[in-house]
Amino acid sequence: MKEQSPDTSMNNSYLEVISKRLKRGMKPVEPNLGILGFFLITLVCFICCFFYFDYSVVAKGFRVRGGLQRQRFVWFEEGSNERLGFDGEECDLFSGKWVWDDKYPLYESRDCEFLDAGFRCSENGRPDKFYTKWRWQPKDCNLPRFDAKIMLEKLRNRRLVFVGDSIGRNQWESLLCMLSSAILNKDSIYEVNGSPITKHNGFLVFKFKDFNCTVEYYRAPFLVLQNRPPARSAEKVKMTLKLDKMDWTSGQWRDADILVFNTGHWWNYEKTIRRKCDCYSGVPKGLSTSEDSNLPHPPRRTSQCLFFDEDLTLASVLAKLLCGCYFQEGDEVKMEMSVESAYRRSIDTLVKWIDREVNMTKTQVFFRTYAPVHFRGGDWRSGGNCHLEKLPELGPSLMTSRTWAQLDIVNEVLSYRYLNKSKGPEMDVLNVTHMTSQRKDGHSSLYYLGPNTGPAPLHRQDCSHWCLPGVPDAWNELLYALFLRREMKATRSQNSTPPQYSL
Ligand SMILES: *[C@@H]1O[C@H](CO)[C@@H](O)[C@H](O)[C@H]1NC(C)=O
Ligand SMILES: *[C@@H]1O[C@H](CO)[C@@H](O)[C@H](O)[C@H]1NC(C)=O
Ligand SMILES: *[C@@H]1O[C@H](CO)[C@@H](O)[C@H](O)[C@H]1NC(C)=O
Ligand SMILES: *[C@@H]1O[C@H](CO)[C@@H](O)[C@H](O)[C@H]1NC(C)=O
Repeated sequence: MKEQSPDTSMNNSYLEVISKRLKRGMKPVEPNLGILGFFLITLVCFICCFFYFDYSVVAKGFRVRGGLQRQRFVWFEEGSNERLGFDGEECDLFSGKWVWDDKYPLYESRDCEFLDAGFRCSENGRPDKFYTKWRWQPKDCNLPRFDAKIMLEKLRNRRLVFVGDSIGRNQWESLLCMLSSAILNKDSIYEVNGSPITKHNGFLVFKFKDFNCTVEYYRAPFLVLQNRPPARSAEKVKMTLKLDKMDWTSGQWRDADILVFNTGHWWNYEKTIRRKCDCYSGVPKGLSTSEDSNLPHPPRRTSQCLFFDEDLTLASVLAKLLCGCYFQEGDEVKMEMSVESAYRRSIDTLVKWIDREVNMTKTQVFFRTYAPVHFRGGDWRSGGNCHLEKLPELGPSLMTSRTWAQLDIVNEVLSYRYLNKSKGPEMDVLNVTHMTSQRKDGHSSLYYLGPNTGPAPLHRQDCSHWCLPGVPDAWNELLYALFLRREMKATRSQNSTPPQYSL
C-alpha cells in the first residue's frame, strides 16, 4: 500500500485485502479478469461493509458464534464489557498490529499541562496528525479501552513509580496526561515538592489529591549505581557504574505498589566509556544525603565534569575531555568489559534486587523493553533522520541487529528467572520492542523545540523520543491491561474459598 490517506476507521487488513484485489484485478493484459476483478471487489466491499455495520450495530447483546471475528468488532462499541477476550492468560498482547482508529488520540497535548515542551510535537509545528491515530490491536484478543477513572480508582492510596531513562519519562508523562484527562479540577493534581516539569530534575512526584495516589518518575538511566571510581583507579576512569548495586534512589521506590522499569538507551560506548563531559552527578536534586543517611556518599562533580549537555559552547570546547565512565563489580574496575556484558549484569542485578527487596505480593513490577530509535542515514550527531515519516511501517520492521541484541539479553536474563511459571509471582514484561519498531512516524523529529522557536535544523533531529499523544500511550494501554488483569486475579482469589492443602 502506498500513501493512501488512512482517513477511514476501517481496519487495515480489510484495506490490504482490497488493495491486493485491486493489484490482481487491474493487470491490463487480462482485461476479462480485470472486469471480473472489479465485480469481485464490489462484492467483497459490499459483504465487508455489510458485516462491519451489521456487527458494530448489532453486537450489543447479540452473541454471534465465531469468537475472534466477533470480538474484533465488539471493540468499537461504547460502554460494552471490553474486558471480553483479553482476560485469558494465553493471549500475547504484544503480538498484533497497528490499526487506524478515528477515536484516537486519548487526549490533546494542549489540554495536558504535564508535558515537556519537547513532546508537544503538534504545538511545536508538526503539520500531520496521523501519528496520533494508531491503536495497538493484539492478534488474538482485545485490549480493554483505557478508562482513567477505573485506573485512578484502583490506584487509590497507592504509588505508581517509573524508573529509567528519558524514554521512561516520555511514558510517565503520557500516563499523567491519560489519567488527568478524567479530572476536571486540574489544581487537584500537583508535584508534591512544587517542582516544575523540566528535563533535568532527578525525580518528580505527582499527586492526584482526590485519589491520594502518586505517579512518580525517577531518573536512573542505567538503573544501577553511578559513582566515583575506587582510589588508585587509572587516570582515565572518571566515574564507574557499579553493576552489582542499584541506583541511589532505590530505597525511595522499593515499596511502591507498581514499579515500571526501563533501561537501554544509555548502554553504549558514547554514554559510558567514551562519555563526554556531561557528568550527571547521580544524585537527584532535592534528595540531600543527610535526609537519607544510609545512602552512600554521592559522587562530586570533578573539574572535568563541570559541564552539562545543554551548555553547548563549553561542551564543544572541551569535547576532547572524556568523562570515562567504566564498569565496576565489587571493588574492581573492569577495564575490558563490553557494554553488552555490563548490560546483562545490570539486568541480573535488577532481578536479584527485586527478589531480595520487593514484596511481590504487594508490588506489581514491570520491565519495559527497549524502544527502538529510527535514525536513518546516521545517528543523532551525524544527520540521521526520521523527519517526514508519516506512516508506520506496516510490514516487517527494518531495525538494526543492535536493537534485537539488547532485547535478547533482557529476554535471556528474565526468562531464566521470571518467565519460569513455576516460580511464584512474576515480573511483567512490557514487551514493546517489536511493536514500537514499526512506528518510525512517531518521533519528535524536528518538533521538539517550543512553539516560538520553530522546527530544529534538519541535522539535529530527535528520532528517539516520542511525540505525545503518541506511541507511549499505547505502552500505557498495555500497562493498564496487565494491571487490570492482575487486579482481577487478586479479586477473584479473594472471593474464592481458600484452597485445601493436604500434606
Ligand atoms: C515479545 O514479542 C515478540 C513479538 O510478538 C515475541 O516474538 C517474543 O517472544 C516476545 N517476548 C516475550 C518475552 O514475551
Ligand atoms: C494515602 O496513601 C498513602 C500510601 O501512598 C497511605 O500511606 C496513606 O495512609 C493514605 N492516606 C489516606 C488519608 O488514606
Ligand atoms: C507483603 O505484602 C502483603 C500485602 O500488602 C502483606 O500482607 C505482607 O505482610 C507483606 N510481606 C512482607 C514480608 O512484608
Ligand atoms: C524453572 O524452575 C524449576 C523449578 O524451580 C527449575 O527446575 C528449572 O530449572 C527452572 N527453569 C529455568 C529456565 O530457570
